Amino acid sequence: MALKDRVQDLLGQVRDMKAANAEELEALRIKYLSKKGEITALFNEFRNVPPEEKRELGQLLNQLRQQAEGKINEMRELVESQKAKAERLDLTRTPDPIELGTRHPLSLVREEIIDIFSRIGFTVAEGPEVEDDKHVYGMLNFAPEHPARDMQDTFFIEKEIGEQKPTDVLLRSHTSSVQTRVMTSQKPPIRVLCPGRVYRNEAISARAHCFFHQVEGLYIDKNVSFADLKEALLYFAKEMFGPETQIRLRPSYFPFTEPSAEMDISCDLCGGKGCSFCKGTGWVEILGCGMVDPNVLEACGIDSKVYTGYAFGMGVERIANLKYRVKDLRLFSENDVRFLRQFESC
Ligand code: PHE
Repeated sequence: MALKDRVQDLLGQVRDMKAANAEELEALRIKYLSKKGEITALFNEFRNVPPEEKRELGQLLNQLRQQAEGKINEMRELVESQKAKAERLDLTRTPDPIELGTRHPLSLVREEIIDIFSRIGFTVAEGPEVEDDKHVYGMLNFAPEHPARDMQDTFFIEKEIGEQKPTDVLLRSHTSSVQTRVMTSQKPPIRVLCPGRVYRNEAISARAHCFFHQVEGLYIDKNVSFADLKEALLYFAKEMFGPETQIRLRPSYFPFTEPSAEMDISCDLCGGKGCSFCKGTGWVEILGCGMVDPNVLEACGIDSKVYTGYAFGMGVERIANLKYRVKDLRLFSENDVRFLRQFESC
């Protein structure tokens, strides 16, 4: 084969060179570029080429050597980076254990409450935690001097300045504020649940916290009666705490409901006989409720001669306490994984 054809042939071989690792690459380098390599051999033969062919062949030969060197360098970089990657990847290492998170007990209980009431037509409404006096108290029939507004219960966003009244921006102390928002923006029939976090200025202890969670409910339509309220709450108590559960309504007072009541359920620890948990009474309190005061309906633009309604409100921590017997309320907000892990299977 003429020298020129051999150069062409080698150019083709160089183009198709492949090396999977450093050894194969070195073998290629030796085959073509070492002292006894094929390309080096061609340079030796070049000496005997007649002068008129030297120019063309010389260029071709240089091109061949450059391409071979370039390709080998390129492949060396590739092989080295693959080797570095492989070294970083320790295939013998045991994989990191996958830590599955758990639902927070308060989320579990809130979802269960919502689920139970959604089966009788309630939907969820949410509203802001930073509220104004009007939605938290004013429209809910709280007299201007009602003690719940007092600094002891309510966190105001700005302090009282001199003679000036405190600004009316505050942290909501109950989710009834969401109910006023729903009543002013929707027309009856209204059937909503208002879950959310609320704030009260209380000293933190095992039994009280400066924030907790509520689910409140509101149903407004024509002819809604106290019997409807009682029926819905009995259904809830049995679904939540078991079919044996009994309820008892005690007269109470809330500015926004008339009549108002507090609801107890039979103590499931002693079956109503009386124990230390229910302080010997056989009953434990779980929520407040009542018929929406006509003043509230009117303040929200609902005709109280046409519509009536009931409302109820419960603390999620309280329900969770009864379900899981958590003695210290603070556990719910400390996020100690040893506490939270206990709810893995719930
Ligand atoms: N809003 C009341 C509270 O925060 C609970 C409640 C709601 C009572 C609705 C009666 C009716 O304690």
